[in-house]
Amino acid sequence: MSYDLVVIGTGPGGYVCAIKAAQLGLKVAVVEKRKTHGGTCLNIGCIPSKALLHSSEVFEEATHNFEQLGIKTSKPKVDWKAMLANKDGVVESNVTGIDYLFKKNKVETHHGTGRILAPGKVEVTGEDGSSSILETKSIVIATGSDSTPLPGIDIDEKQVVTSTGALELEKVPGKLVVVGAGVIGLELGSVYARLGSQVTVVEFMDKVLGPMDSDVSKQFMRSLKKQGLAFKMSSKVTGVSKKGRGLEVTVEPAEGEAHAETLDADVVLVAIGRRPYTEGLGLKEAGVELDDRGRVKTDTHFKTTVDGIYAIGDVIAGPMLAHKAEDEGVALAEILAGQAGHVNYNVIPNVVYTSPEVASVGKTEDELKAEGIKYKAGKFPFTANGRAKAMLATDGMVKVLSDAETDQVLGVHIIGHGAGDMIHEACVLMEFGGSSEDLARTCHAHPTMSEAVKEAAMAVYDKPIHM
Ligand code: FAD
Ligand code: NAI
Repeated sequence: MSYDLVVIGTGPGGYVCAIKAAQLGLKVAVVEKRKTHGGTCLNIGCIPSKALLHSSEVFEEATHNFEQLGIKTSKPKVDWKAMLANKDGVVESNVTGIDYLFKKNKVETHHGTGRILAPGKVEVTGEDGSSSILETKSIVIATGSDSTPLPGIDIDEKQVVTSTGALELEKVPGKLVVVGAGVIGLELGSVYARLGSQVTVVEFMDKVLGPMDSDVSKQFMRSLKKQGLAFKMSSKVTGVSKKGRGLEVTVEPAEGEAHAETLDADVVLVAIGRRPYTEGLGLKEAGVELDDRGRVKTDTHFKTTVDGIYAIGDVIAGPMLAHKAEDEGVALAEILAGQAGHVNYNVIPNVVYTSPEVASVGKTEDELKAEGIKYKAGKFPFTANGRAKAMLATDGMVKVLSDAETDQVLGVHIIGHGAGDMIHEACVLMEFGGSSEDLARTCHAHPTMSEAVKEAAMAVYDKPIHM
């Protein structure tokens, strides 16, 4: 079996790279050890978490807003098994979609664990132990990432879980302790808080969503507290032990051991980050080097330290996001086909799918200050937006940051309903090097939440109308 390209791992990085390369005329095969394609994102990440976020958000809306909107129903109840079944159906339809796309684009699939024997040679070992060797001009490592463990805490994926176990708990826990106020902790913490769990989030730092703009982070935490989530900031979990049928969680200040306290929990979710997954790939033997954080080292064209071996997605440096992996997949396929593939790392949006949603692109105000870049800022709250009032979605604001001299937009940060969709006009603007004036002078339909983006841009170079 001989190919132009063999891709190991069919997450958003690998499957997109394989399809694009096939579209560009290369003979392509993929190797995947999971039964289904789509990687972390489609099987145990983006897609199932968004299905549960949606179900729980609709439940929350029906419980709290229907009466004000003039809708009378009997009190809604949670059918957890049905919610999980809906989530599984959504996953199924997404992963089978990848099978269809592989067939359509004539990408050959091999199920089993891939191991690089040498440049141009990949061994595939099936679950039954049988093995075969694929010969290829190029190899792409797209093996993704897995959850970072918390030293001394055993994960059983039933009571002490990572995101994977949290997506299929047997029942909605009475008390949930989340370790880490990052994206996973707050998305999945929100799901269970809406469904009735008492959720306590323990976070090492003094701010939620660490890398996000501080203004947004503060407003977001206030909003989550109003929704009933409790926070123990600047704290760390140092132990989890069995207590009857439940668990006892030991929490200490981030610095030092004084004032340790304990929390009762039915379930503990450990969400303290993810780490690159390179196990069993034979990288050391093949001469592929890793950096000090265990990520595969690549140059700007995704080439590893060995000719003919490339890497993309969560397994290399950069944000661990599905769309970043996909864009790298396309760029690398283009490079391998002799074209000019490129990813603009300055314009990668980041979205947290909570309620309100949080979305950002480009620099935060904190980063601009730290880098000594002179900037102008404009803000606009959704409380002054007509559509937001009509939708009972006034929680949040838009912030636009532009260069003080040239007015080029350097960052946009949104917290509010639909922020994850609204952010893309900022991405397009920034991709073309646009200014806050360009954004403000672009006609925005009325009444839309997006008018708040226009007004925040007006607040940068002039004055907003509705505030
Ligand atoms: P992965 O998706 O991890 O795929 C790697 C694949 O390689 C896997 O299928 C694995 O089985 C396979 N593999 C590994 N080793 C081998 C081997 N030796 N042989 C064969 N196959 C192998 N990102 C977003 O942008 N938006 C979101 O909303 C979002 N939500 C998330 C929610 C959760 C709960 C989690 C955990 C992650 C979420 N992410 C989200 C992150 C996103 O899932 C990852 O950034 C993305 O999946 C990375 O894609 P990838 O192709 O690099 O790797
Ligand atoms: P994260 O990096 O977003 O957050 C981890 C948090 O845990 C940080 O705030 C960190 O300070 C804290 N922490 C670390 N060690 C700790 C300790 N010992 N005690 C208490 N707190 C501790 O990581 P998370 O949430 O696990 O997500 C991993 C990655 O998955 C994300 O960074 C993101 O790339 C991706 N993801 C993206 C989503 C999206 O785009 N909507 C959704 C879910 C995941």
